[in-house]
Amino acid sequence: MPDIPSYRLFESPQSASRAVADDISQLIRSRDNKGKNTVLGLATGNTPIELYEELIRLHRAGLSFRNVVTFNLDEYIGIDREHCESYWQFMHSRLFNHIDITPENIHLPDGMVCADDIESHCSTYEKQIKEAGGIDLQVLGIGRNGHIGFNEPGASPDLATHVTQLNEVTISDAAAAFGGPDNVPQYAITMGVKTILAAQRITLLAFGSSKADIVKRALTPGITAEVPATYLQSHHNTTFFLDQEAGEGLN
Ligand code: GLP
Repeated sequence: MPDIPSYRLFESPQSASRAVADDISQLIRSRDNKGKNTVLGLATGNTPIELYEELIRLHRAGLSFRNVVTFNLDEYIGIDREHCESYWQFMHSRLFNHIDITPENIHLPDGMVCADDIESHCSTYEKQIKEAGGIDLQVLGIGRNGHIGFNEPGASPDLATHVTQLNEVTISDAAAAFGGPDNVPQYAITMGVKTILAAQRITLLAFGSSKADIVKRALTPGITAEVPATYLQSHHNTTFFLDQEAGEGLN
């Protein structure tokens, strides 16, 4: 039986982001109290920017990330860490540089790993997630084509971290940031659907009317590889945090 993810509707992206940040803060504090690390799976894109701002605000108010370990979903292949569009750069400028996380606890796939080493890089990434104790909470955005991480339409549910080719919708959505579609990397390393579904909890954020159709599809019963976000229907603890616009197609 599919487990349709539950959803929560908020007045604005900011109020939704606050709720997710509060949730993450409670998780970190409760695990801290038990002497345990918190393992977070993190996402990039425009959607989680306010969430990261809220987490920085909570850090300034006393929340520590000393016992937090992070794993990012994905990274472009062929993009150096220092490139302004690398996810490494995004995560450092938007979050990591502003909190007390230990650099050794930050993990992102390396987009510059040479072709011969990619496979072992991906399996090492999976091993590191397991050794950290698995992901307690995975934050996701959603592409207009239903991708999660860079698991594009057609993605298999059986893959762990792997190399993937970007879909044309994804390339066109990234074109402005890269100064044209021809400059957008064609390939990326991404956690697979299998990696994502192994998280204890999943929180998907979607904001704005451009996400309304795909959110509705993702929450309509029926799992299909053509809309990878529908794989979340086979996860027992997933919640969508939506603003009014992204939730406009829902009852
Ligand atoms: C990107 C990322 C995804 C992200 C999605 C949506 O390509 N790889 O992890 O969720 O696209 O991006 P945005 O939040 O900017 O709409």
